[in-house]
Amino acid sequence: MAEKSKVLIIGGTGYIGKFVVEASAKAGHPTFALVRESTVADPVKAKLVENFKNLGVKLITGDLYDHESLVKAIKEVDVVISTLGQMQLADQIKIIAAIKEAGNVKRFFPSEFGMDVDRLHAVEPAKSVLAVKAQIRRAIEREGIPYTYVSSNYFNGYFLPTLSQPGLTAPPRDKVVIPGDGHPKAVFNLEEDIGTYTIKAVDDPKTENKILYIRPPKNTYSFNDLVALWEKKIDKVLEKIYVPEDQILKDIQDAPLPLNVILALNHSAFVKGDQTNFEIEPSFGVEASALYPEVRYTTVDEYLSRFV
Ligand SMILES: NC(=O)c1ccc[n+]([C@@H]2O[C@H](COP(=O)([O-])OP(=O)(O)OC[C@H]3O[C@@H](n4cnc5c(N)ncnc54)[C@H](OP(=O)(O)O)[C@@H]3O)[C@@H](O)[C@H]2O)c1
Repeated sequence: MAEKSKVLIIGGTGYIGKFVVEASAKAGHPTFALVRESTVADPVKAKLVENFKNLGVKLITGDLYDHESLVKAIKEVDVVISTLGQMQLADQIKIIAAIKEAGNVKRFFPSEFGMDVDRLHAVEPAKSVLAVKAQIRRAIEREGIPYTYVSSNYFNGYFLPTLSQPGLTAPPRDKVVIPGDGHPKAVFNLEEDIGTYTIKAVDDPKTENKILYIRPPKNTYSFNDLVALWEKKIDKVLEKIYVPEDQILKDIQDAPLPLNVILALNHSAFVKGDQTNFEIEPSFGVEASALYPEVRYTTVDEYLSRFV
């Protein structure tokens, strides 16, 4: 068997990053995490970093804004995965520059982990936010860096614990607000599974210069089907309030940041159906659960049972 690629994660102490770091180490890839000095000094993050160390992850002190540190870290590895957050997305251009200078990288995974930003009908302000990811794609392609874009759709933790009902801390038990008519399908994935599929793609030639869609059939639900599943679990029929698209668009305009971005992302997913309204063509993409049937992913059904 060929040796497993060495993987560097930039943003590994972030929400999704930690699952990617863990998956990489557990899959036996020599795993490196670029961590800022300030992160190690933070008591909460320090625990995470300690866990990384226990998994055999090598920590490299550095910063996205310290070019030398980036180049040095990148030279150690074969594959670079960015899980940087919203504020740093545009500055991933600095990773691209460092990858070009280092000259040894076999694959770059930019920070995506959401909807396919080239196939969206999002309204502002989500439109501009997502356009940044598309600009990073174009920069990678212009530079000829081999890539994989992970389109993981919704993180479970962001959506399912409340079924996207503002102000709740658990799924609703009386009434539920449903955007649009509740018919378009969206996709919900457990964060650990997103890490696992991302790492599976690292050494897979089938994912080179492709979009890896994480769209498992058992995790693809319309809002109506999701509510029906939850109702079955709690053995109760909820009152349903459907919000027409006109009202949603008005709510987006009236909402403050970052709520307006969240509402606009939900509009794209639940009203426009942007997570599922296109076929994955072999020319541009592959679907993770079909490509890696050996991964036993956690289904939405299983996940929702946690809240009964
Ligand atoms: N599909 C979904 O439902 C969904 C939901 C949320 C986000 N996302 C996407 O997931 C991706 C990651 O977002 P996230 O929310 O997981 O990110 P996050 O929690 O904000 O984490 C950002 C990471 O970047 C690190 N970082 C920040 N500035 C840095 C710098 N100058 N140098 C090096 N590292 C730096 C942070 O370090 P510290 O730990 O030190 O702060 C942290 O590890 C984004 O593309 C986002 O759009 C998707």
